[in-house]
Amino acid sequence: MVILGIETSCDETSVAILDNKNIRTNIISSQLFHSKYGGVVPEIASREHLRNLYEITQKAITDSNLSVHDIDIIACTSEPGLVGALLIGLNFAKSLAFSLNKPFVPVNHIQAHLYSPFLTEQKIIFPFISLIVSGGHTLLILVEDFFKHKIIGNTLDDAAGEAFDKVAKMLGLGYPGGPVIDELSGYGNPDYHKFPTASIKDNPYDFSFSGIKTSVLYFLKKIDFTKIKNDKLISDICASFQESIVNTLFEKTLRAARLHKIKTIAVSGGVSANTSLQNKFRALEVQGYKILIPDIKLSTDNAAMIAYAGMLKYEHLKESDYLIDSLHIKASPRLDIKNF
Ligand code: KG4
Ligand code: ZN
Repeated sequence: MVILGIETSCDETSVAILDNKNIRTNIISSQLFHSKYGGVVPEIASREHLRNLYEITQKAITDSNLSVHDIDIIACTSEPGLVGALLIGLNFAKSLAFSLNKPFVPVNHIQAHLYSPFLTEQKIIFPFISLIVSGGHTLLILVEDFFKHKIIGNTLDDAAGEAFDKVAKMLGLGYPGGPVIDELSGYGNPDYHKFPTASIKDNPYDFSFSGIKTSVLYFLKKIDFTKIKNDKLISDICASFQESIVNTLFEKTLRAARLHKIKTIAVSGGVSANTSLQNKFRALEVQGYKILIPDIKLSTDNAAMIAYAGMLKYEHLKESDYLIDSLHIKASPRLDIKNF
């Protein structure tokens, strides 16, 4: 089965072609210029997708050594994401599928992150605990079977990646903040300062990362950061901030895994590329845990994960839906849990 996947939910225009689980192409074009605005500008993102999508799709088909007529299914992110950006991909993908008379499978971006660690594995091992950590979402999910998931933890405010991005901005490190904080943390002292994350009384598996961002802000003001800043100080703040976020993500996930007696943990989404987070989870392997973390190209937004989730959805739910349109897309980029 040959699947063409398209991803345009945020600032990556990505097109991939999978031949079953074999990734023939996975082109990711990142709109790096958003960094000068300190975050993604939705209108500019949509226009860039519009400008690039046709060419990238053509290149993906050429690079895959296949013809457009070899494609069996077309899958595209339908939600959640920036509405204008989603509509570009969605309408392009639907039109292509319609013209080729092939099934069109709308894919939930979060579900694509959820299954992404298994794209390079032999098979999916159920049940597993999924930690999805991206720029828009922080979710702990108990996955019992194909498309049977229960959300056990969610963020009450900022997502983990969002906290990385906001703190990087405060430190003058640009956007996206995760990769640079990750790198600088390698030179810093994680015990330099304690930036606490909030504990949630109602549900210990929920997350809250807006408090830590505020505590970094107050700390920077207190030490008069702009006057005294130097490379060592910046690295120490990065390392201390990262330590706190990573510990929170790790501890809640492990607690959930222990509660449900599950030894398979899959971590995905952009923040799963974080070195310290990966090391923490990998250290569990000696205790018999199976840890799955996708390769960096499959952990940040990419179309291969969309194609893979589309393939699973088509195989297991027999879903093809041309009628999906802008009305199905939530106005807010946050996940609507009821419809997950
Ligand atoms: O999954 P993703 O590419 O896009 C969304 O769906 O949001 O995640 C992007 C997020 C950004 O917030 C970025 O700062 C963060 O992932 N990120 C990282 C790292 N690489 C990317 N955060 C921490 N450490 C990293 N190495
Ligand atoms: Zn994502």
